[in-house]
Amino acid sequence: MRKWIALGLLLTSGVQAQGAAERIAAQAHEGVASCAASQCHGATQVSSKQSVQMNEFALWQEFDPHAKAYDILLSPESQSIARKLGIGKAEEAKVCLDCHADNVPVDLRGAKFQIDDGVGCEACHGGAAGWLASHTTASHADNLAAGLYPTEDPVARSALCLSCHAGTPDRMITHRIMGAGHPRLSFELDTFTWLHPHYQADADYEARKGRFDGLRDWGIGQATAAINALDILLDERSGWHGIFPELVLFDCHACHRSMSGRQWGPRQGTGLGPGVVRLNDSNLVMFRHVLAAVDSAAAERVLAQSRALHKATTESREQTFAAARTLRATLQQLSTRVADFKFSPDALAAILSSMIRDADRGEFRDFAAAEQGAMAVQSVVVAFEGSGLLDEAATERLRARVDALYSTVERDEGFAMARFVDALKAVRAAAP
Ligand code: HEC
Ligand code: HEC
Ligand code: HEC
Ligand code: HEC
Repeated sequence: MRKWIALGLLLTSGVQAQGAAERIAAQAHEGVASCAASQCHGATQVSSKQSVQMNEFALWQEFDPHAKAYDILLSPESQSIARKLGIGKAEEAKVCLDCHADNVPVDLRGAKFQIDDGVGCEACHGGAAGWLASHTTASHADNLAAGLYPTEDPVARSALCLSCHAGTPDRMITHRIMGAGHPRLSFELDTFTWLHPHYQADADYEARKGRFDGLRDWGIGQATAAINALDILLDERSGWHGIFPELVLFDCHACHRSMSGRQWGPRQGTGLGPGVVRLNDSNLVMFRHVLAAVDSAAAERVLAQSRALHKATTESREQTFAAARTLRATLQQLSTRVADFKFSPDALAAILSSMIRDADRGEFRDFAAAEQGAMAVQSVVVAFEGSGLLDEAATERLRARVDALYSTVERDEGFAMARFVDALKAVRAAAP
């Protein structure tokens, strides 16, 4: 139970993703080369003697885009973004390096540290000065106490990833940066955790670190992302510019679509009429589906408070802040419940049904919600596979339908809600 007490503490602390970035930079970073020796994490093969794989460096270097995050700043695409923003060279600009490298202050860089290593080991595992020498013989708990970042904890991990994959008040990806050509950011904790892993959640892992539950991670990831967006909105420096709020917090497609489309339709999640710029609420929509399995009365409360926030944005800044604070507190309290919840096959079915009810009401009209929806279904289906309810043929069928669902959100331009909804229903029909 100790783990969940620690979790509760994290959840009630201040700005979460910003807090994660501060913890990562709390002590000196020794550099990737300090981890990569062949007898350390630089092995070429999975070790049969150690509890961890030991080939983490090779996997990171070869497969993980984080290893190339700095190199991306040298690309013509990055140079063009930097030119349009008038910030000098992208590879020297703090605003770019903060997310594309392990950009700790110079006095926190050890002898082997190199900025061009990109998002290196310590950008996620925390500065190693306090534990590098002792971590091979110390217990995991002792390593955490010495400053190793708790990446296995879904709340802490989510806050960490979001510090770059969504931004924080101190580390903003603004609409100006997007306007200069930066790709739109989208993130889902469970999907992204398993895209390029250098770890395995095998029996040995679970014995050391506890159960790895993708569905729980998906649920917590939605709450943490929604809270992070509210934190940015609530911060005067990051949430507002001149007479406009920061546009990156809003649904991109509320503005970026053609006028001849006549695509507008009501959405119960916002309660807003046509022609209104609305906040990007895709994580709130998804968190309601998580709650459909955990506590349906709470899902209604989140719906009511989300609508109140949308309405407040059409009234005043003060009302927006008040509604954002109420919703934030609710999310924080509920995400602890999700962290403790054990999802059963019935719960999985409840989530899919809840999504389909929303789909029939037009709730997936906005691309960002549909994109999160596809990643959610993926997490739910993987959980179904783990439940032992599916034979091989059923698994194949379900996977093919998830692929078909993904293909409907491949590109935001040309997204058609009807195709997404049909594909979603096809997944439901193939699930137990
Ligand atoms: C808040 C963090 C953040 C900031 C600030 C940021 N980036 Fe990024 N950038 C990302 C993330 C995360 C991705 C990967 C998006 C994805 O694939 O989901 C990315 C992707 C990119 C890509 C596309 C990479 C590819 O593989 O196609 C380019 C180019 C880029 N960033 C350049 C820049 C430049 C130049 C700056 C500075 C003006 C900058 N970024 C600032 C987080 C950030
Ligand atoms: C983008 C973030 C990120 C980067 C960069 C990163 N890791 Fe990890 N690492 C993780 C996550 C997430 C896990 C899985 C959760 C956990 O058990 O901590 C993990 C797990 C591990 C584990 C433990 C596996 C286990 O079975 O307990 C080791 C060892 C490790 N990483 C080493 C490295 C090394 C070495 C590097 C650099 C070459 C590196 N990591 C870079 C995020 C990262
Ligand atoms: C210090 C900033 C930073 C942190 C922390 C971070 N990332 Fe990233 N991540 C990036 C950048 C920048 C890119 C884009 C790199 C590129 O395209 O070369 C990226 C790319 C990725 C990609 C590839 C996306 C794609 O479209 O293929 C995945 C997956 C990913 N990150 C997962 C994670 C996860 C999971 C975590 C938390 C454990 C995490 N990241 C933490 C900065 C970060
Ligand atoms: C409130 C309306 C609004 C919202 C919401 C909005 N934008 Fe914009 N966007 C604009 C305006 C206005 C421009 C400037 C157009 C111009 O300069 O002609 C622009 C420009 C851009 C451009 C540059 C286009 C070009 O042709 O150079 C990009 C890219 C962009 N936005 C991406 C995004 C993304 C990604 C999001 C969501 C995270 C978003 N926008 C949300 C109104 C919006």
